[in-house]
Amino acid sequence: MTTTLNNPITDIRRKFQEIPVSPEWCFKNVRSTEQWTHGYHRYPAKFLPNLVQKLIEEYTEEGELVGDLFAGCGTTLVEAKVHGRPSIGVDVNPVAILITEAKTNPIIPEKVELMKNSLYSRIDSFNGTNFEKNNTHQRLDYWFYPEQKLRIAFLYKIILEINEKNLRVFFLVALSNILKNCSRWLQSSTKPQIDPNKVPSDPFKAFKLQVNQMARKNSEFYFNLESTGFIDTKCEIKLEDARATNIVGGSVGAIITSPPYVTSYEYADIHQLTGYWFEYINDLYGFRKDFIGTFYSQNQEINTTSFIGQEIVNALLKKDNRTAREVTNYFNDMSLVGKEMYRVLKTGGHACIVIGNTTLMDVKIKSSEVFAEILTMQGFEIVEIIKRSIPNKLIPTIRDKQSGRFSKLDNKNSKLVYPEEYIIIAKK
Ligand SMILES: C[S@@+](CC[C@H](N)C(=O)[O-])C[C@H]1O[C@@H](n2cnc3c(N)ncnc32)[C@H](O)[C@@H]1O
Repeated sequence: MTTTLNNPITDIRRKFQEIPVSPEWCFKNVRSTEQWTHGYHRYPAKFLPNLVQKLIEEYTEEGELVGDLFAGCGTTLVEAKVHGRPSIGVDVNPVAILITEAKTNPIIPEKVELMKNSLYSRIDSFNGTNFEKNNTHQRLDYWFYPEQKLRIAFLYKIILEINEKNLRVFFLVALSNILKNCSRWLQSSTKPQIDPNKVPSDPFKAFKLQVNQMARKNSEFYFNLESTGFIDTKCEIKLEDARATNIVGGSVGAIITSPPYVTSYEYADIHQLTGYWFEYINDLYGFRKDFIGTFYSQNQEINTTSFIGQEIVNALLKKDNRTAREVTNYFNDMSLVGKEMYRVLKTGGHACIVIGNTTLMDVKIKSSEVFAEILTMQGFEIVEIIKRSIPNKLIPTIRDKQSGRFSKLDNKNSKLVYPEEYIIIAKK
């Protein structure tokens, strides 16, 4: 008679190998992510709202607190509000906090209209000579031509004069989202790169266009929430680290989140234009350090507690030391996040984690399997693993073979990654 040992690692690996793609989680025919306030601001690797909606419907009850430890631009919090669930989110990116505040606080439409008209009339009477320029970060001279810079400085100044916080945040988000178009930043790139041939947009025209679109979305969102009775459903967003939050232990009914990918998007770099203008960043180096998944952590560790993770690190050590150390750091950070998730969740609550695998230096980085192992080590029970294919539109599926960074589809050095991702459902 043979005895089969129930090895948790083998078990996790088998679970991931066996699952087919679940068509009901792919949302193949979903074209737009612009409903409600979701389209206020571009944000790399943001959630598909339909996915969050389905998770909320399946894993939460009305009135139950929903948490997101990597809140980003607040997709989970917006959908929680639409569904009458209070929510709490954290992120280390101040730009994410600003966007989420605007997206989760619909404003009485008449108020937006009045403020909009007042700002527009000040813009229309703008005369460079009657405006004293603010002190701004020197890096802004690198990114902006003087004409654009002057106009943006004016917009920033008149927005800061708005007393009511929600209104001020609303217009700041509008300004933040036009900065890239009005700068010399290569338009199609998430990497900080100058396009010497770019003709930047006029800040005043771009701002008005952006505000008009946002005002329409604000009205739709406001009237919807008023009709469902969820307008006052609480949403809290905080500038905190997912590895150690101030969320009360056992208070969260369900977590719906997607962690950053490993060494791919440098959120600190991507949001530097807003960071410099709104004085969130002094030096970029210091700003990068808190972000999980950055290539700039400079960590020296090559040991991780995850068995699957250690195998990956060992394979990377044969190729490139620095990448091996950054991936170790990522896995160790994710262990801390797993522990924090366990702490904040109530007993019986679910953590729903959307996570993709990738390839670096030809080594498969199976972050999904590593995270499933981490969750198991923390005491979670993995109740379901869902596999879904990703619509190309929403996430770059290509990495440059040499740099390992995301690149455009037409790049000759490109290689297909992230055609699929996983949703891990773990129960405390
Ligand atoms: C994949 S994005 C999340 C996107 C989000 N689901 C949405 O719909 O916008 C990952 C997020 O993790 C954040 N992040 C990185 N390191 C963090 C940390 N140490 N604590 C909290 N958030 C962090 C990044 O700023 C980024 O917003």
